[in-house]
Amino acid sequence: MERPTTRDLVTGYCNFYEFGTEKDDPPRHAPKLLRTRPWQVVVEGEVRRPRSFDIDELLKLAPMEERIYRLRCVEAWSAVVPWIGYPLSELIRRVEPTGNARYVEFATLADPKQMPGLRSRVLDWPYVEGLRIDEAMHPLTLLAFGLYGELLPSQNGAPLRLVVPWKYGFKSAKSLVRIRFVEQQPVNSWQKSAPNEYGFYSNVNPNVDHPRWSQASERRLGEDGLFARRRPTLMFNGYGEQVAALYAGMDLKRLY
Ligand code: MTE
Repeated sequence: MERPTTRDLVTGYCNFYEFGTEKDDPPRHAPKLLRTRPWQVVVEGEVRRPRSFDIDELLKLAPMEERIYRLRCVEAWSAVVPWIGYPLSELIRRVEPTGNARYVEFATLADPKQMPGLRSRVLDWPYVEGLRIDEAMHPLTLLAFGLYGELLPSQNGAPLRLVVPWKYGFKSAKSLVRIRFVEQQPVNSWQKSAPNEYGFYSNVNPNVDHPRWSQASERRLGEDGLFARRRPTLMFNGYGEQVAALYAGMDLKRLY
């Protein structure tokens, strides 16, 4: 088990473009601006029981667990975080997906009054992500409500976010407001903004370089300095034993 990154780094070095593209924009702006109550999450599309959930109901839906996961960003840095939440499958079971539900699309809050970053066209808002249904149902896929023993700070995606530990960090959508079950593969925000750089799957794969930099190694947050070593990046971010079977027979260079 790896040692968790310090809380200060995880809450101070963030990607949450709705609050700006610099790493310290989200911690500077989100705590003042993001209102996390009232908060509803709409679950719709190919499900027998479409409905909306209040955040306080979601907090009680299933037993909370602490899970220490690595998050690796496509920018080639990583962190080890004690998340608190429960498997997304707990929510999915309750809405009963139909046989047509092959993918799940996640959309996050896009409110220009609370989110100054929406003024920039750096991404097409709202921020959208997608998973195949079996990835969404995988027991490692977490609906997270907290970290380090407390509720999520705004900059880390309050009041609830996804954490998919074998994918690039950008699959872990923050501040979720809509979960839609669909038949066609969703187009995620990163794919839309730079289709030559980002694909649908986003599995951590050290053998597929980003067009502008290598993905073979990573810098762990907090391990800076002249003599800090870069860590080799592991296939599926080290979770291959649990998830490689989901991709058996797929060409993960082409389907990156
Ligand atoms: N979710 C939203 N809504 N907006 C974002 O810009 N950035 C993603 C992901 N989820 C992002 C998002 C990226 S690129 C990363 S690396 C992780 O959030 C970072 O999560 P952290 O700041 O809690 O480490």
